[in-house]
Amino acid sequence: MYRTHTCGELRISDVNKQVTLAGWVQRSRKMGGMTFIDLRDRYGITQLVFNEEVDAALCEEANRLGREYVVQAVGVVNGRFNRNPNMPTGDVEIIVSGLKVLNVSATPPFTIEDHTDGGDDIRMKYRYLDLRRNPVRANLELRHRMTIEVRSYLDGLGFLEVETPVLVGSTPEGARDFVVPSRMNPGQFYALPQSPQTLKQLLMVSGFDRYFQIVKCFRDEDLRADRQPEFTQIDCEMSFVEQEDVLNVFEGLSKHLFRSVLGIELTEAFQRMPWCDAMKYYGSDKPDTRFGMKFVELADIMKGHGFSVFDDAAYVGGICAEGAAVYTRKQLDALTDFVKRPQIGAKGMVYARVEADGSVRSSVDKFYPQEALQQMRDAFGAKPGDLILILSGDDVMKTRKQLGELRLEMAAQLGLRDKGRFSCLWVVDFPLVEWDGEQGRFVAMHHPFTSPKPEDIHLLDTDPGAVRANAYDMVINGVEVGGGSIRIFDGALQARMFGLLGFTPERAQEQFGFLMNAFGYGAPPHGGIAYGLDRFVSLFAGLDSIRDCIAFPKNNSGRDVMLDAPSALEQSQLDELNLFLKHR
Ligand code: AMO
Repeated sequence: MYRTHTCGELRISDVNKQVTLAGWVQRSRKMGGMTFIDLRDRYGITQLVFNEEVDAALCEEANRLGREYVVQAVGVVNGRFNRNPNMPTGDVEIIVSGLKVLNVSATPPFTIEDHTDGGDDIRMKYRYLDLRRNPVRANLELRHRMTIEVRSYLDGLGFLEVETPVLVGSTPEGARDFVVPSRMNPGQFYALPQSPQTLKQLLMVSGFDRYFQIVKCFRDEDLRADRQPEFTQIDCEMSFVEQEDVLNVFEGLSKHLFRSVLGIELTEAFQRMPWCDAMKYYGSDKPDTRFGMKFVELADIMKGHGFSVFDDAAYVGGICAEGAAVYTRKQLDALTDFVKRPQIGAKGMVYARVEADGSVRSSVDKFYPQEALQQMRDAFGAKPGDLILILSGDDVMKTRKQLGELRLEMAAQLGLRDKGRFSCLWVVDFPLVEWDGEQGRFVAMHHPFTSPKPEDIHLLDTDPGAVRANAYDMVINGVEVGGGSIRIFDGALQARMFGLLGFTPERAQEQFGFLMNAFGYGAPPHGGIAYGLDRFVSLFAGLDSIRDCIAFPKNNSGRDVMLDAPSALEQSQLDELNLFLKHR
């Protein structure tokens, strides 16, 4: 037997027991004639003790152990003189009588400690060592717990887990596909699924009724902290449902995860915010509602006083940051620089402080009588000590998004985006399509299978941009955790939708014929949702990047630096796949 106990298991009640442990040498200390070794495994750390006076040879052996050596130790559990209250095993130690080196280790390139000295790149290269560290391991344990709870919750509601293929066909909508050449079909390619969307809809045609799958999805997009080229969805679909049914089931799933994994009881129903309100009041389709700072539109108050920046703007609006009138000129200049950054693109920022006597001092005082400024103050309900920040611009949506960025930045500076506090909501009533200037056509806001709201269908031909969809996103703390919709299940309406998106009937048939044909055989009304598992886990773990809850993630250039992938192919492989490379 390699071990009788794990390194996280022994307690004071085990004193005098003869035990065998196995694990990695975390660190060793020599104090006089005594040597102490922290032995680590996935479950914890136990202190091993060697006494030179009792067994000089054994102690000498212990002194030769290097960091990360794999060892087996036999000994007796002893109550510790200096107890360590920070460790569950801190009351005991093992007086070692036998030691065996199971394997040696090269010196690790960074310290395997909670706070390591290793930078990002080196830890990615040696990810298997990084995974030995407690914080990284804890994230994977949390991920495991969440997937188990998802399965148990959905199984309890009669959902069936069905696997769909990973080698599928390329679809033109959405992100770029990762493609795989087919050796047996020269010149033809599979695509890896961006999501099992059409397949889960086919399962509904097959009568599966309630489907889910915890599934890898692949998208060739530019990477960000919340995006990986391969990521995992909790993908679900239900038949004979309306939007409310789907929202209720998956609000239930979210609440179940909060309760069972974090011990947080969310009793209130999640807020349902129409997309147009999210944009109007937060400048984002995924508003962080842990704090207020809602936008107030100011055109009526601020226009017509000779300040041409506002007079000529299509949008003038602002936010009120409670208690931030103490901001210095330097801090306000930094905020102005923030909104002027190319990624945000505002031209400037106007600020106004509410003084102790209620009067308002602004950066544009010379254009405005105090009366107008106080009217503005009242529009925000601002109090003495508050700071008002105003943006304006020619493009209403763009300016709102800029103000949305400023709102998030301000909240971060004021400590309002603290982790461990959660605010969940549904954003509903998304537009069905949006105009893509580059392509000169409408594109689906969600995907082409999303159903328009029945009451808006009459606008499909005359004003498609105004048609709202039966689509919804679950947003937690400003993160889009999931998204879904009620689907079109009527072949004629689906064909109309493809037409609106600029598909000729022939192309629609070529790309989506399999789905449209299936709809000819009795498709039930259906709808669903997919949660981003990586995003959900990183929210629960309070991580800044989803990378940290993925065992072997890609870096920002989409590379796996440990496996050195992607990599070039041998000429013989290229020949076999009938591939000719433009650049070598
Ligand atoms: P959508 O494209 O909104 O919907 O994706 C669903 C959820 O998946 C997560 N997600 C990602 N996570 C990490 N990296 C990425 N690159 C990435 N892209 C998306 C997000 C998102 O909310 N088929 C539809 C779902 C449906 O309609 O049922 C779909 O894929 O958390």
